[in-house]
Amino acid sequence: MSYEPKPGTPVQELDTPALILDLDKFQRNVDKMARFFANKPTVLRPHSKTHKCPQIAQRQLAAGAVGITCAKVSEASVMAQAGIRSILIANEIVGPAKIERLTELARQATMYVAVDDPNNIRALSVACHNKGVQLGVLIEVDIGMKRCGVQAGPVVIDLARQIADAPGLTFSGILAYEGHLVMVQDPEERARRVRHDIQPLNDVVESLEKHGLPAKIVSGGGTGTYDISGTCPPMTEIEAGSYVFMDTTYLKIRPEFESSLTLLVTVISRPTPERVIVDAGMKSITHEFGLPQPVDVPGAALRSLSEEHGKIELADPAAISVPAGSKMRVIPSHCCTTVNLHDKMYVCQQDVLVDIWPIAARGCVQ
Ligand SMILES: Cc1ncc(COP(=O)(O)O)c(C=O)c1O
Repeated sequence: MSYEPKPGTPVQELDTPALILDLDKFQRNVDKMARFFANKPTVLRPHSKTHKCPQIAQRQLAAGAVGITCAKVSEASVMAQAGIRSILIANEIVGPAKIERLTELARQATMYVAVDDPNNIRALSVACHNKGVQLGVLIEVDIGMKRCGVQAGPVVIDLARQIADAPGLTFSGILAYEGHLVMVQDPEERARRVRHDIQPLNDVVESLEKHGLPAKIVSGGGTGTYDISGTCPPMTEIEAGSYVFMDTTYLKIRPEFESSLTLLVTVISRPTPERVIVDAGMKSITHEFGLPQPVDVPGAALRSLSEEHGKIELADPAAISVPAGSKMRVIPSHCCTTVNLHDKMYVCQQDVLVDIWPIAARGCVQ
């Protein structure tokens, strides 16, 4: 017997915890970002780590994205199987098993990958040459995040030369993600710091050009900075992801996008007038960016999460009726990690189910 709800089911009748995507809000987010990049020299290659869902990637492409960004080979594999033909893995892919998988993908799609190490370049080249495929390679440059990447300077030219000379590889450009700045609250400070930290890349790109190694792609940017890095030379591609859903963290700094993703939960217990216990905990919603936020119930605040329980407190219990069995929605504080906890999202319009989209790359961390 199938427990899958049918299109036409009201949201309130869906079993919980359930990730609910408001299709109209989601589509407005997709269209708004696409409009920003229409007629700009910089293009959008949205990060699919946010949604891990081919249906969403296809909608981003239909709105004008030039391809998609992924974090992992297994994630890229799901997207390639879904027919996506241009994929940037904005990450270093290290080790024979992953490199083998990457070369397979290069048969199906135009693949780009990031590097910051000569040995990794050699390993990628041997594998691609043996397989008879061509792989686009971007050098990751650290512009302040202090994660992966080499420092801007002569080492970039050395690596670019090595890539350009390596069979099976094409030197495609630079990856430089300003992740340390995407959440800076003050917009002016954010803009100033992003422009400052991107500036050294202009010298890098100029120097590459002089050495006959033009950077076709210079990729970076997130939802917090898309309009800054997206209009800042030498960036050519922006990797924003969260704008499709938003979360309480990004809503504080990016009010132009709408909250399209919520978790529907059921009240399972009312032990005291103030206390409401719901059926969603850390296994359904993440909290590394703070506790998620209930909507629809005025004065309700989530106080803690255990594995399968959420504890909500009501500011004024007399003013509102929230009996056991009633349902409410919660906005995640971090959409990307919350989505990765679910197999599917329930796509709704005007609070009625219209479709169910599998989160096909959910759990694809290899
Ligand atoms: C490499 C890379 N690019 C871009 C992003 C931007 O994503 P978002 O729009 O969700 O901030 C991230 C976020 O983790 C990232 O790791």
